[in-house]
Amino acid sequence: MKSLRKAVLPVAGLGTRFLPATKAMAKEMLPVVDKPLIQYAVEEARAAGIEQFCFVTGRGKVSLVEHFDVAFELEATLKERGKLDTLKQLEGASAIPGSIVSVRQQVPLGLGHAIWCARAFIGDDPFAIMLPDDLVLAETSWVKQLADAYTETGGNVVAVEEVPREHTNRYGILKVGKDDGRMAEVLGLVEKPKPEEAPSNLSIVGRYVLMPEVIAELARFEKGAGGEIQLTDGMARLIGRQPFHGLRCTGRRFDCGDKAGYLEAQLAFALSRPDMADKVRAFLPNYR
Ligand code: UTP
Repeated sequence: MKSLRKAVLPVAGLGTRFLPATKAMAKEMLPVVDKPLIQYAVEEARAAGIEQFCFVTGRGKVSLVEHFDVAFELEATLKERGKLDTLKQLEGASAIPGSIVSVRQQVPLGLGHAIWCARAFIGDDPFAIMLPDDLVLAETSWVKQLADAYTETGGNVVAVEEVPREHTNRYGILKVGKDDGRMAEVLGLVEKPKPEEAPSNLSIVGRYVLMPEVIAELARFEKGAGGEIQLTDGMARLIGRQPFHGLRCTGRRFDCGDKAGYLEAQLAFALSRPDMADKVRAFLPNYR
C-alpha cells in the first residue's frame, strides 16, 4: 500500500459569496486572525507528513502560490532590524523548493473538473483533497486522521459531519452501511439531494483521501448537480470497487466560504490563542 504524500488544493472557484472582497483577491487569502486560509490548509497537510502540493488555480489566484515564496527584501529588512520574532512568524509561509506546483483550471466547471486538472500531479498515487475554505480547529490534523483511516481500510476515506436535514441540498450526502459511530461504510453518494430524497444527513466536508482511479471517472466529464462536473459523482463510481468510508474526525470545522462561518472561525481561533484570548474576551460582552 502506498503512503499518502500528495495533496491537491482546488482554489479556482469564484468566491461569489464574499464579493466584493474577492473581486481582485483570492478567497483563500482571507485571513483568520493573522494567517490566510491557504496557509492553515498547507500546515494541516504537513502535520500529516504531506510535502507535495498542487494548487488548482484560476484567474486572480497567483498570490496563493506567491504566499509560499521567499520574500527576500522583507526578510533581509527584518534581519537587519533584529526583528527575529517577526521573522519566525513567516516560517509556515515558506516551502521546500519544488514542493508546490500549480495547474490552471481556466473555467470553473466544477470541483470534479478541478481535481481532474491535477491528473499529472496525482499520477498513480493516493492523494488528499483539501478545500481551504473549510477550516479545521483540532488537536490532530484532519488530514492525519484521514491518512490513518486510509492505512486502516486501504481505500478512499472522506471527512463527514451530521448536518441538519433541511441543509442536505448544500452538500454531498452519504448512503451509509455499517457504522460504528466513528467510521461509516459508504454505500452511495448523492450531491445536494433535496431533504426528502437524502439517504441520510451525513455530509462530506472539505477533506478527502482518494485513490487515483477517481481520475478516470472524472474524465467522463459528466455534468451533475448545478450543471457542474461533480467530484461526488466521480467518487460514487468507485463504491463497490474499492473500500470507501466516511470518517467523523475529532475537532471543529468552520465553513469559511460562508460569512457567518468565517466570523465564527475568527472568534474560535482568536480564543484558542494565548496572545489573543484575553483581548477578545474583554470586548465580547459589548456585543451581547
Ligand atoms: P465553492 O462551492 O465554495 O465555490 O467551491 P466558490 O467559487 O469557492 O465560492 P462561492 O460559492 O462562489 O462563494 C468549493 C471548492 O471548490 C473549488 C473552490 O475554489 C473551493 O475550494 N472549485 C469549485 C474549483 O476549484 N473549481 C470549480 O470549478 C469549482
